[in-house]
Amino acid sequence: MNRNEIVECEECELTETCRMPVPYAGRNELNVFIIGEAPGREEDEKGKPFVGESGKALKKAAFKAGIDIWKDCHITNMVKCRPPGNRTPEKGELSACFSKWLGREFVESNPKHALLLGKTAAETLLPFTSIGHGGKLKLKGIMWYFLYHPSYWLRRGGDVWVEDNVLPYLREWGEAWKQR
Ligand code: URA
Repeated sequence: MNRNEIVECEECELTETCRMPVPYAGRNELNVFIIGEAPGREEDEKGKPFVGESGKALKKAAFKAGIDIWKDCHITNMVKCRPPGNRTPEKGELSACFSKWLGREFVESNPKHALLLGKTAAETLLPFTSIGHGGKLKLKGIMWYFLYHPSYWLRRGGDVWVEDNVLPYLREWGEAWKQR
């Protein structure tokens, strides 16, 4: 699967309202995944995930924790298209996009560590579990980690809040897979 295939997707109605589907980025062959919800406005314009405000917050926090997200991780979203008005993706859209793309990303890159950002990712991929901010669990050979979405970090007040409430978990996450 290459990125161009995703860009040409016409699988669900979201492809009709977004500017373009946004494929995964970073190092797709790596087995460390970061999974968000959906592209936002800037991602929709640029065709790359996590390049808007949330992405900048993620990149900055990860960098402080010793992680270069673009070099160290496969970065992707539950759905590849921006939902109209940034609404939450619907169940049908989530399952269509999983069957068509994200499921194949899992098969091809065989993640061992997956960081889920926000509850759409957690509730869709781990439906029978309840995992809270900073939580982790091992399931189906994958170590899953969960953090609130970076848009929430920004709403909580940015740097100071992130320092205390996100960095310790990001450091722990990085340490776990850097030993691989
Ligand atoms: N939020 C996400 O969940 N994904 C992006 O790519 C950008 C913002």
